[in-house]
Amino acid sequence: MRFIAAIVFSLTMVFSGSAYADAAAGQSAYSAKGCIGCHGAGGKSTVPTFPTLKGRDAAFVRKNLTDFRSGARKDPTMNAMAAGLSDDDIDNLADYIGSL
Ligand code: HEC
Repeated sequence: MRFIAAIVFSLTMVFSGSAYADAAAGQSAYSAKGCIGCHGAGGKSTVPTFPTLKGRDAAFVRKNLTDFRSGARKDPTMNAMAAGLSDDDIDNLADYIGSL
């Protein structure tokens, strides 16, 4: 029984690893894609023009990045920023920002 439980547990870990967004990858993307330049380290913006993201939940970030990418929400800067994001990028960024 213990052996079976161990297998079930490992499979759960494998599947949850691939099925859910990855906050660590989101943190790398937040720097690599330049979000940090406007929205600040840890999502705390120091420039009033750029909104602070810390405190926003993952669902908010996911929806708004998707809307910026599709053009449903219009802002020239963010439309350009979101244009290059994949669905995985958006999930990972949402997970990271939601964790701040
Ligand atoms: C050149 C500056 C700049 C960069 C780089 C930038 N943003 Fe933004 N971001 C803005 C501005 C300005 C707004 C506000 C747009 C508006 O008023 O509609 C915004 C809005 C947002 C919002 C909505 C916040 C809210 O309160 O409604 C999210 C989420 C967001 N950005 C995420 C990101 C992510 C993730 C990245 C990196 C891929 C990024 N931004 C890169 C300037 C930037």
